[in-house]
Amino acid sequence: MPIKKQILKSNKSICINGKDYEFEPDMTILEVAKRNGIYIPTFCNHPDFPPKANCRVCVVEIEGRRKLETSCSVKAESGMKIRTDTERVKKARNMNIELIFAEHIEKCPTCIWRTNCSLLEMADKYKVRIQRFADRKGKRKTYKFANAVELDGTQCIDCRNCVDACTLLQKIDYLEVDGKGIHQEIRPTRDKGKECIYCGQCAVHCPVGAAQEQADWDEVEALLKNKTKTLVAQFAPSVRVAIGEEFGFGYGEETTEKMVAALKALGFDYVFDVNFSADITTMVEAEELLERASGTGSMPMFTSCCPAWVKYIEFYHPELIPHLTNSKSPQIHGGGLIKTYWAEKMKINPDNIIVVSVMPCTAKKFEASREELKINKLNPVDYVVTTRELAW
Ligand code: SF4
Ligand code: SF4
Ligand code: SF4
Ligand code: FES
Repeated sequence: MPIKKQILKSNKSICINGKDYEFEPDMTILEVAKRNGIYIPTFCNHPDFPPKANCRVCVVEIEGRRKLETSCSVKAESGMKIRTDTERVKKARNMNIELIFAEHIEKCPTCIWRTNCSLLEMADKYKVRIQRFADRKGKRKTYKFANAVELDGTQCIDCRNCVDACTLLQKIDYLEVDGKGIHQEIRPTRDKGKECIYCGQCAVHCPVGAAQEQADWDEVEALLKNKTKTLVAQFAPSVRVAIGEEFGFGYGEETTEKMVAALKALGFDYVFDVNFSADITTMVEAEELLERASGTGSMPMFTSCCPAWVKYIEFYHPELIPHLTNSKSPQIHGGGLIKTYWAEKMKINPDNIIVVSVMPCTAKKFEASREELKINKLNPVDYVVTTRELAW
C-alpha cells in the first residue's frame, strides 16, 4: 500500500456507530457519514453555503462531549467516537423537527413543496407529532419583490438560506435578519442603495414554501378551463430537461415530446419552442456586435437575455447600460413574433391571444411585465410560469 494511503488509514479515522471510517482534512462528521452511506437527517444544511447549524436536526452524540453536536458543522477529528442513533439523539432530533413545524404555518395543500416536502417526509420517517406546538408565525408579513418572488413570513423557519443565497451567492445583500428570538424575521433591507434583482436564488434555496416565486399558474389554469382566447405556450431551452427531474427522469434526460403532449393535454392550443426565438436573439446580437465592432457603439457588448442581469446593471451599474445589447431576450422575441407575424399568418386578432412562457427563472416574470417591452400596446408575454410551477 502506498505510504500516503497508509498514513491516512492509520491516522485519520473516526468511529460512527461502532465502525471506523477514514476522512480527509476539513470534512465534517456529516460528510464522512454521507460518504459512507450513513443517513443523518439535515434541514438547514446546504452544500452551497457554510454550515449555519441552526435547525439541529442533524445532532449526534460524541463520546466525551457533554452536549449533542451538530454533525453538519463539527469537523471530524481522529479518534472521535460518534453515535447517530442513541435514545438521546432520537429524542433531541424529533423535538427539533417538531419545533421546525411550529416555526411555520403548514399551508401544505397550497405549498410549492406539497408533493415532495422533505420536512413532511422526515416527520413521517421518525413518526413525529407535527401539531403538538402551536404555530407561532400567524401574523407575519408577506413581502413581494415586484411580480417575481415573495417571502411569506408565516412559512419561514428562520434557516437563513435565503439570506446566504442573496448575500454570498448573488452578492446583492437585499435580505436581512430583523429582530431577535421569536420576533425574528427575514425582510428586505431598508437600505435604499440595495435592490432585489428578482433572480429567485432565495426561492431556490428555501427548504419550505416561504421564499418562492409569485405563482401565476392559478390564473393560467382558469384561462385553460374557461377558454375564450387562443392559448399559446412557449418553453425555454432548459425546461425540457429540468422538468424531467420532477417526474423521475435521469439528470440531463430530454422530455420535449412528453412536455409538448402534456401542454396540449392541459388545453394549450399551440406550443412553441423558445429555441427558435433564441436563434433570433443570437442573430440580432451578432448583427449588432458587428456594427459595434466597426466603431458605432459601446464595446464590449453584453447580453440582455437574463432579466436579473439587466436589472442588476440598471440599478447597480447604470454606467454600463450602453454596453447592453439592444436585442430583446428569447422569450420576448418569441411572444412578439406570436402576437405579430404568427397572428397575421393564422388570422387571429392578437388581442385574443394569450402567451404563457414556461421559464427556468423568476426574473422572467418581471421581464414580461415591463412596459417598455410592449408591442402595439400589448405585452408580448402574458404569463410566465416557472418549471416547477408547471410540474407541480
Ligand atoms: S414546507 Fe410546505 S408542504 Fe412542507 S410542511 Fe411546510 S407547508 Fe407543508
Ligand atoms: S430574488 Fe435574488 S436578489 Fe431578490 S432577494 Fe432573492 S436572492 Fe436576493
Ligand atoms: S424564507 Fe426560507 S430560506 Fe429564508 S429563512 Fe425562511 S425558511 Fe429559510
Ligand atoms: S442540518 Fe445541521 S443544524 Fe441544520
